[in-house]
Order: sequence, then C-alpha cells, then structure tokens
Amino acid sequence: MDTRSLPGTGPGPVIIEKPVESPLSAEERGRRTASPAFGTAMTEHMVSAVWSEDRGWHDAELLPYAPLLLDPATVGLHYGQSVFEGLKAFRSPAGEVSVFRAEAHARRFRSSARRLMMPEMPEELFLAAVDSLVGHDQAWIPDDPGMSLYLRPLLFASERTLALRPARAYRFVLLAFVTEGYFGPDQRPVRVWITDEYTRAAAGGTGAAKCAGNYAGSLLAQEEARERGCDQVVWLDPVERKWVEEMGGMNLFFVRGSGADARLVTPPLTGSLLAGVTRDALLRLAPELGIPAEEAPVSVADWREGCASGEITEVFACGTAARVSPVNEVATSTGSWTIGDGRTGEVTLRLSEALTSLQRGELPDPHGWMRPVPPSGRAGGA
Ligand SMILES: Cc1ncc(COP(=O)(O)O)c(C=O)c1O
Repeated sequence: MDTRSLPGTGPGPVIIEKPVESPLSAEERGRRTASPAFGTAMTEHMVSAVWSEDRGWHDAELLPYAPLLLDPATVGLHYGQSVFEGLKAFRSPAGEVSVFRAEAHARRFRSSARRLMMPEMPEELFLAAVDSLVGHDQAWIPDDPGMSLYLRPLLFASERTLALRPARAYRFVLLAFVTEGYFGPDQRPVRVWITDEYTRAAAGGTGAAKCAGNYAGSLLAQEEARERGCDQVVWLDPVERKWVEEMGGMNLFFVRGSGADARLVTPPLTGSLLAGVTRDALLRLAPELGIPAEEAPVSVADWREGCASGEITEVFACGTAARVSPVNEVATSTGSWTIGDGRTGEVTLRLSEALTSLQRGELPDPHGWMRPVPPSGRAGGA
C-alpha cells in the first residue's frame, strides 16, 4: 500500500473562506498590475491547506495573502520534497473568467507528488482551491486580452525534522499573480542555446515531475545560454546528447514542410521531459486545423540539416507561462543557424491564435477545457 495516499479522513473539498476585510480599489489593483515582471503582481488572497498522517487533508482555507512562518528545520527546504503547478485563468470578452485545463493540472500535481513520496491532493480539493481563489481575486485580471491570472499551487514537506525520509506533514498553498506572456506582450521570437554540457533529467529520475529541484538544476545552463546571447536553453537527452528534449520550462514543436503540407513533430515523452498540458492541447488542436501532428524523436543534426534544406520551416516552444513562443535562432558549441527567415511562421501564428482564442472564450470549447469560475460574493472590491 502507498503509505503516502490519503487516509480518507480529510474534510472533502471545503474551503473555509476568510477574505481580506477591505479589498484594494480598482485603481490600486491597476497600478500594481501595470506591466508586471513575471511572478511579482500577487493578488490579495491565497489558499492554504495542510496534510498530516493522522488527519489527512484539513484546514483548507482562503486567507489574505501573507508570509509563511517556517521553522528553520522545515524539511522540505532541506531535501527538496516540493512540487508545484502552473495554470492560468483568462477573462472572456463578455467578462467571464475561466481556468484552462484545471483538471489536467490537478492530475499532474498528483503524479508529481507521487514521484516525490508526498500525499496526493484529491482533484476535487485542488479544484475547490482554484475556484475559491479565482472567485475572490478575478477582478485582478485586467481587460487587456494579453493579460491573465497565473495560478501557482505549491506542496512542500512542512515537518520540523531533518530526518531523511518521506515527511509526515505537508503544506499546500495556492497563490495567484497577474501576468502577460513570459517573453512580454508581443511574443518576439527567441534565440536558443543547445547545451552539451548540462542535462536536465534522466529516465528514472524526476524529469517528468514538476518538482522544485529540476528548476534549481536548470539555472546554471540557463545562465550559460544568457552568456551566449540566448534567451533560453534547450535540453538534450542525457545518454547520447543527441536527441532534443525540451526548452527551459517549455516543450518544443518542429514544423516540417509548409502550406498545405505542413506537419508538426514534438519529441516523445521519454520519462525525462515534462508532459506539458499546452503540448497536449496543441497535439489535439493542430489536427483539427488540418495540421497533422506526431510525437517523434528529433536530433540536433536533423534540426540543423532540416533548417539548411528548408524541410524544417518553423520551431516554437509552448507552455502555460510562455504560451506559444516562436524560436528563430539556434546556437551550439559548434555553430549557429536561423530557422526559416527568422520571423514567426504561419503555422506558429495559427496555433498561437487558436489556443489564445480558445483560452479567452472567443471560440467554442468542444473539449471542455475551460472551467468557468463565477466571481465570489465579495470579489473585487470597488
Ligand atoms: C520543464 C517544463 N517543460 C514543459 C512545461 C510546459 O508545461 P505546461 O504546458 O503544462 O505549462 C513546463 C511548464 O510547466 C516545464 O516546467
């Protein structure tokens, strides 16, 4: 039996709501969310819940956003038992707010927790937390269609111990901040660095989990990319250093051919990549737009030669934070090359438009991916 699984004694998906006494005015919210740097324009509330061996999940509450008081021996800080998610809420032209693929993120949050020997949060509780926070703080989402509310669920080992074993107490928090695209509002094409020195993850490791350590381990390679004049690092497979895996915190897609012959290829989930929710959405949306899409390995040599011969016409990255983000230049330790004519390609634009239109509620949602969240009674303030 999985000793980390829920004993079933939790409170169910009930969030006790204790919102702030006086919400900020619309003017003050506007001031705080004008051109925010990613991850800084926090809203007024957070959801907190705790898990203990004897009580399971309990004390699920919506609270005013505030610092956490942590014991220096909080074990998650030491050994990295910490997993998180990233998902977004969007405002439609009619003003309604919906969260994109909240259920898929709830499932991935559980699977990341399982890999790190942490208690799996029931999907209903995850969704209740999202509904509560988005219900209260949705007035923070500006009318600007390029802006959205990024939701950050985090689960970490909160037991006060330095014993190296699965912790016996955990804390969940859910925060939200207002954001535009990760690379700014206009999604300019990015230049990438393929590192042959560092790897992100190996099969059997934690690459398929969204755990904190994966991101700490990526920073040095990201810095190497920055020193080479690149925006992002591209990871290769850890064994042969030959196959393209993903880019920074995003999955990669290659467009082979053009016009009516264009087709998409994305590297398969080998166990060391993160199974992106956006990646999955695009694999399903593209064929609906008449663009065949498949999962197949792409080598660096293939990438370089495909661009030289004109067979690879476009490359883009995708993820919740970055949306669809064109890649136009590639640098490696042995040379660099340009993709297509260096400008954002037609397929990238079509997919980007299809995804963002769906997320903003401008298109029908046949997959049921948007989770509408009505404002809570006290949402918004003046
Ligand atoms: C390493 C990594 N790959 C890919 C992605 C894209 O995943 P998603 O589309 O679910 O945001 C992310 C972001 O969560 C990531 O951190």
